[in-house]
Amino acid sequence: MRNLIQTADLTVGEIDEILKTAEDIIRQPGAYADRCRGMKLATLFFEPSTRTRLSFEAAMYELGGQVLGFSSATASSTVKGESVPDTIRVVSCYADIVAMRHPQAGAPMIALTKSLVPIINAGDGGHYHPTQTLTDLLTIHREKGRLDHLTVGFCGDLKYGRTVHSLLEALRRYEGNKFVLICPESLNLPAYVMEELEEHEYVCCSSLEEAMPMLDILYMTRVQKERFKSEADYDAVKDLYILDPDRMKLGKKDLCVLHPLPRVNEISVAVDDDPRACYFKQVENGKYVRMALILFLLARRRENDSRRFAKEDLIYHKVCTKENCITSSTQEVQHIFKKVGKNRCRCIYCEAEQPLFEQ
Ligand code: NCD
Repeated sequence: MRNLIQTADLTVGEIDEILKTAEDIIRQPGAYADRCRGMKLATLFFEPSTRTRLSFEAAMYELGGQVLGFSSATASSTVKGESVPDTIRVVSCYADIVAMRHPQAGAPMIALTKSLVPIINAGDGGHYHPTQTLTDLLTIHREKGRLDHLTVGFCGDLKYGRTVHSLLEALRRYEGNKFVLICPESLNLPAYVMEELEEHEYVCCSSLEEAMPMLDILYMTRVQKERFKSEADYDAVKDLYILDPDRMKLGKKDLCVLHPLPRVNEISVAVDDDPRACYFKQVENGKYVRMALILFLLARRRENDSRRFAKEDLIYHKVCTKENCITSSTQEVQHIFKKVGKNRCRCIYCEAEQPLFEQ
């Protein structure tokens, strides 16, 4: 069975295939109106969402299917103490495919070990958000006509911004792309994303003004208040980057500005009328690309999932102590690490790093 837990679960060829289907759906939606007749999508949102959940639901309805689920953890048996694996095992008896969002990293990875049907990660903590990536890629492709040879600036909260982690994982696999990382040091990319960029062309830059003229794509992000340990830490960085009409003047004529939304104040409303502002087009593309993804996964229910871990690299004697890891709240789960480099290993659920051998 195939699942989508992170962008790396898809080859570049498969990403292109999903985007092609999405573009075909846009051209002839009627041809897809019955493709999921009699099927059900479960949307399990343990963390709030507007766009992602509604676009999944709209996508399934437009394919002729039906939807069930919950939109907050308090509306599920989580409040009674039910674990994610148990919830998933139950729901997968009722639905043909599941889209889930959870505040802890690794929750969808645990879900797939118990699920009888394909799992789609609709965001896990500050970790990954692969369906937003498909939305972003479809938007870039429709605006620019290509996904390669682009200079892409990521601005704001690159540390907790899960959409950034997933989009970088995809864009780095297309030829000739260059990246500009615009953030304060405290909000830089986590090590596991940074390492993936090692062999790629990228620069770090603390000034949005300096970066603007170089960019083909500017990916703005919200500072993820809910993931900060203290209000003071959030206050120190919350207003650092604000895209306004004056800063837009520094950008190329064919710049494309993206934002996964919701925005707080990092893009002023005055930018919305600029033809280079594409973030509301992104919202619409989200529905089409999720229709294409649902079809893609349902068609491959009997295929093997191409999990990325080689068995010989897995370690079972380490314990993850990261509080935002799903292992911290799910007692029966086995802690598993994967070897990276000579003397390091990473939790397969949240990527927290530990030395392989204690000194
Ligand atoms: C993003 C998310 O949930 O990570 N939103 C989305 O899915 N469209 C971005 C965010 O919350 O800032």
